[in-house]
This record gives sequence, structure tokens and C-alpha cells, in this order.
Amino acid sequence: GIVVSSLLRETGTVTVDPGFMNTASCESTITYIDGNQGVLLYRGYPIDQLAEHSSFLEVAYLLTHGELPQHQQLAGWIERIERHTHLHDNFKALIGAFPTNAHPMAVLSSAVSALPGYYPESVDPFDPATVELATVLLLAKAPTIAAYAHRRALGQNMIGPERGLGYIADFLRMSFQPTAQHYDVDPVMAKALDVLLLLHADHEQNCSTSTVRIVGSAHANLYASVSAGINALSGPLHGGANEAVLRMLTEIQADGGDATAFMNKVKNKEAGVRLMGFGHRVYKNYDPRAAIVKQQADRVLRALGKRDEMLDIALRLEEIALHDDYFIERKLYPNVDFYTGLIYKAMGFPTRMFTPLFAVGRMPGWIAQWREMMLDPATKIGRPRQIYTGPTTRDYTPVHER
Ligand code: ACO
Repeated sequence: GIVVSSLLRETGTVTVDPGFMNTASCESTITYIDGNQGVLLYRGYPIDQLAEHSSFLEVAYLLTHGELPQHQQLAGWIERIERHTHLHDNFKALIGAFPTNAHPMAVLSSAVSALPGYYPESVDPFDPATVELATVLLLAKAPTIAAYAHRRALGQNMIGPERGLGYIADFLRMSFQPTAQHYDVDPVMAKALDVLLLLHADHEQNCSTSTVRIVGSAHANLYASVSAGINALSGPLHGGANEAVLRMLTEIQADGGDATAFMNKVKNKEAGVRLMGFGHRVYKNYDPRAAIVKQQADRVLRALGKRDEMLDIALRLEEIALHDDYFIERKLYPNVDFYTGLIYKAMGFPTRMFTPLFAVGRMPGWIAQWREMMLDPATKIGRPRQIYTGPTTRDYTPVHER
């Protein structure tokens, strides 16, 4: 890479690579993906081992600090995060100022942009203690903001965090507790959400993470960079896909539940219909996260005693795709989003909350990537080139002569 890049600089050669299909923007020690084998490692640890034995907050530590924490380090880390989950009253007013029909992703990105206004002591990108504080604050406040955004959309009063329940369980409580009533969090739901967030925690240089890095490359602070990542994630081809999957399944169900007829539309590319939750830029094999999510979907729906017709439709779609040449030739398999929406729905989250949940999960990855970039002496401001294809030089004509 180094030889080629110095050559490029000398000759002034510019490569055009739409979508950066073949361009590495950085070197990274965080996440390894082998898309052909369906392998995903965080700091070398296989995703299935982490999903089975670790927890979201431990993985957040692993991603942001590089190693699994020792016992005391983990306890201190969780303690620090839980200490900062509260939001300032004025900050609640900011969220309360949004119309109830505002998309919670708009609320989340705005709120994250606003955080440095409340914590100006945590914005220096080059002071390690400050960066650590911003890391803790972001991880601590993201679920509270997401739960508030959820309640705001329902026109419900916001319910503040409570210490001692656990990060994930308290997030569920803040989201679902009826005002002034006791609420017990179902441990199966808490475990499932923990696993889902952990599976989303990082995925190397995807659209939102690349966005975080490019914004941070201008030395924008962590909050500003992460907020840009949240906006990137809101797009339907990226984080919005889990929402799109549920919409697709709802439509298929409303049309009588005929999976084969829908798949024919997809294959004929009717009006650009795609099988949402399928395909991935990097995985050309089963997404290892999708296999774990599928197990969790089964577990959650069984625990709730729900036979979900949409899950049946999803399973039928997958079954058709696995044996159909269109999908086989293009190497299209379920990605992490195919089954996540069904679990979130079973938990009681409305469709619009699916992408904010993804954002809460991706937070450790965005932070870890930003931190790695800031410490990397090879980092330069992100500034791609272009091939200009517009008009050659021409003279301006005054408006009355045009
Ligand atoms: N359904 C039907 N056909 C598809 C799908 C799909 N979901 N995905 C790709 N294809 C087809 C394309 O039409 C194209 O066919 P062609 O060669 O006949 O033109 C071929 O497969 C290659 O597709 P590209 O769009 O070139 O693949 P790319 O790598 O650019 O796109 C993407 C990847 C955006 C994920 C795509 O597969 C997609 O749109 N999937 C649905 C949306 C989705 O689930 N996104 C979530 C991504 S994962 C995440 O963000 C966590």
C-alpha cells in the first residue's frame, strides 16, 4: 500500500472507484471481516463466542480499548457508564421540543450534536482523558436519549434512568415502563437486546463509520463525528434496512402472504423491488450475525408465546432465496437486518425505533474507529479526488441575453 500511494502522489494518478469498492481508507486493528467465509472478529475474537459469552458493555470496552477488561476494569467501566446515564433537565426540554411525529433518528442525531454544548470539557480530540470522558458520556447517554425519543414519539412522559438494573434492562425499562407504575424487565428480552446490540457494535469501514472517520479527520470532536454517523445510518440502504424489512413483510402479509409472488417481483426487478435484509457489500456468504439473530428471534418469540406470521413469511423468503439461481448467482444471503426487526417488534418497539436501536449498538464501533484514527500518525484529512466531466471554460452571458 505504501509504495503504491507514494507512486500515486508522484505521478498524480487518480483512480475512480464509485462506492469505494476497492479502496481502503485506513489501516485498522479493530474488526476483521472475511466476507467469503462469513467470518467476523472483533479485536480477533469470533463474533459467535462474544455473542454467547460476553456482553454489550464488555464488547464496548474491548472495541474502544483494544483488550478485554480485567475484572476490576470491567466493574469500573460499567460503574462509570451507569453514573452518567442521566440527562440534564434542559436537555430533556430539547428532546421535548421535537414534534411527536419527528423521526427518532433526527432526535438522536440532534441530541448527540447538542451534547458537547452541555459537556464542553469533553471535546478536545487529542487529550486522552477527555476522549475517555466523551466515550463514557456517549455510551451512557445514547440509550437514555433513544428511550426519551421513543416516549416522545408516543407522546408519553419521559422516565429517567435508575442505577443498578443494568445498562440494557434499564434501557428497556425507560422505554416501556408505564408512567408511575412498577415494571419488571423480562430477562429473555434483556439478554436478546444485549446480544443484538453487541452484534451491531462494529463492522469496519461501512457507510456510517467511514462518515465518522471522515468528519473526525477534520479534527471535529467525537460528538460531531458520531452525530454525522447517525445521519448516515438513517439511510434505508444502511441502518434503515431493518425498518424496510418490516415494512416489506407487512406489505407481503397485507397482500395475502404470498412469498413466491413477492420473490418473482424481486427477481424481475419490478419497480426496483429488492428483498430488503438480503445482500451485503462485503458478505458474499451467510452473514454470521444473521445466524445468531435468527436463533434469538426464535428464542424471543417462543418466550413471548407468539407465533408470528411475519416470521413465517421471513423464513419462507429465506428458504426460496437459498434455492433460487437469482440469489445464488449474486451471492445474496440474509444480512444482520433480516431478522432483527422481528425481534424489536416482538419486544414492543415501533418500526421507527429500529434504526435508533442500531445506532445505540453501533456507538462503540464509531467511537473505537474515531479514537484509532486520532491516534494514527498516518491520518490525513479525508479529501477524495474527482474526475471532472462538466463543461469546459465558457463565457458568462447576462440573463437578458440567454
Ligand atoms: N434484492 C434483490 N437483488 C439484489 C439485492 C436484494 N436485496 N441486493 C443486491 N441485489 C442484486 C442487484 O440488483 C444486482 O443485480 P444485477 O447484477 O443484476 O444488477 C446485484 O445483486 C449486485 O447488487 P449491488 O447493488 O451492486 O450490490 P451492492 O454491494 O452495491 O449493495 C446492498 C449492497 C446495498 C446491501 C444491497 O445488497 C441492498 O440494497 N440490499 C438491501 C438493503 C439492505 O438489506 N441493506 C442492509 C445492508 S447491511 C447493513 O447496513 C447492516
